[in-house]
Amino acid sequence: MAGFELSKFPTGILIENELLDEFDSNPTLVHIWELCKKLFITLWHTKRGYKKDYVNYLPHFLSIEDMEENPLILAREKRSKIHITPEELLSLLSEYESLDDEKIKTIDFGWIGMLSLRSEAKFFSDDILPYLLRAFYSGDWILGKEVVEFEKEVCKAFGVRFAVGVNSGTDALIIALRSISLSRYGKEFFSPDDEIIVPDLTFLATVQAVLFAGATPVFANVDEKTYTISPESIRRLINRKTKGMIVVHLYGMPADMDEVRNVADEHNLFVVEDCAQSFFARYKGKVVGTIGDVGCFSFFPSKNLGGIGDGGLITTNDERIYEFADMLRKYGWRQRDYSEHIGGNSRLDTIQAAVLRAKLKKIDFLTNRRREIAKIYNETLPDTIQKPYDSPERFHVYHQYTIRCKKAEELRDFLNRNKIETRVYYPYPMHKVPALSRGKIYEKLYTEEIIREILSLPIEPVYPDIKIRYVAGKVCEFIDKYL
Ligand SMILES: Cc1ncc(COP(=O)(O)O)c(C=O)c1O
Repeated sequence: MAGFELSKFPTGILIENELLDEFDSNPTLVHIWELCKKLFITLWHTKRGYKKDYVNYLPHFLSIEDMEENPLILAREKRSKIHITPEELLSLLSEYESLDDEKIKTIDFGWIGMLSLRSEAKFFSDDILPYLLRAFYSGDWILGKEVVEFEKEVCKAFGVRFAVGVNSGTDALIIALRSISLSRYGKEFFSPDDEIIVPDLTFLATVQAVLFAGATPVFANVDEKTYTISPESIRRLINRKTKGMIVVHLYGMPADMDEVRNVADEHNLFVVEDCAQSFFARYKGKVVGTIGDVGCFSFFPSKNLGGIGDGGLITTNDERIYEFADMLRKYGWRQRDYSEHIGGNSRLDTIQAAVLRAKLKKIDFLTNRRREIAKIYNETLPDTIQKPYDSPERFHVYHQYTIRCKKAEELRDFLNRNKIETRVYYPYPMHKVPALSRGKIYEKLYTEEIIREILSLPIEPVYPDIKIRYVAGKVCEFIDKYL
């Protein structure tokens, strides 16, 4: 197979149209199709009207070169360097399938990002495009039918009474807090005297939402095993000013909701669940976002259910909270042009809702894939490092696969030199962020020590297993040498 860069992993394969007619009958092609599915290599064709699962239509404005670093053209005859015959391709793919860890080390995967939205776009294009085009041609672009249908579908899937589509996870949090303020206290905003407990390890939006809603954040410690808010810390922080708390199911791991609910109920406090990273995570069988008073979701493209831009959602079983949230996302209107409350423009775009509906159909696949990737890491990485907590009671959806070890920074450098991206979620404890300095610190916070030792590894659902095994192999190499 000289002439092909076999050490380079192919990212897309264009099938010459003449081969398409044989796709179901020719055993070589059937085998290629099965292996490509397994290896997450997208197969493309350009024949209008041809439809086969996982063989996507390549629109005329894209070319084979757009399909990333190492595209191939599957044809009967070799005409140039990137042409490969069915027999050669089958032999190449079969080789990938049976690679052992030593051989995997020799493959050039190019740069391995934390995720690859471009690969996802290609992978889901045939699923998403019909929805996208339907929304486009409908002209019903603001809070259109797709939004209503998406909200209904989420309610059904989660077993929750109400869902309100909004423009981002950030606005979901702000609107959720303000809806609680309106329904519990009849106030448009909280007052700075009102305290809301938040974890010190989270994304900034969790805490900024408290400030936007008019209250004062109080920083809580997180549990060292799960990285979610510590119920013991919450207990210590409660005082007569406390109104409620935001629980973040960080990295996709559900927080200890029984304990959180117990402490909240004892003191008549509200619970907002920040589910930005935990779409369809479950705590004792219940979907997160349906356990507290309100659930807030983000559909930022990198999220477990990601849009093709910003988006968010509020879930609740409380009718009054629902009514306020529905009004606040559109200028405080119940009736057009007559604002009953101080609202803004926080609507979920129709076009995003359309994409999200298409992807919601794939959510089990996406979640399972993340869990499969986590399993590969769990089985490959040594127990000398701290791996993510998982338990039958808390169904982790692995928005991130986060490990904890000494020399985390050196490990990041090492992986970076090996073309593997890693991230620290999040590099600053909330109590050290300048814009959040109005927040209160009532107990010693241990977040900085955690942050120094954590790092998250690539967890892209459409990366094939061998790519993950390659990453895991590199982590092991570092640990063997330096830890
Ligand atoms: C924990 C958490 N909360 C809130 C948000 C904010 O969501 P968005 O980016 O959709 O505004 C994010 C998103 O990154 C997040 O990770």
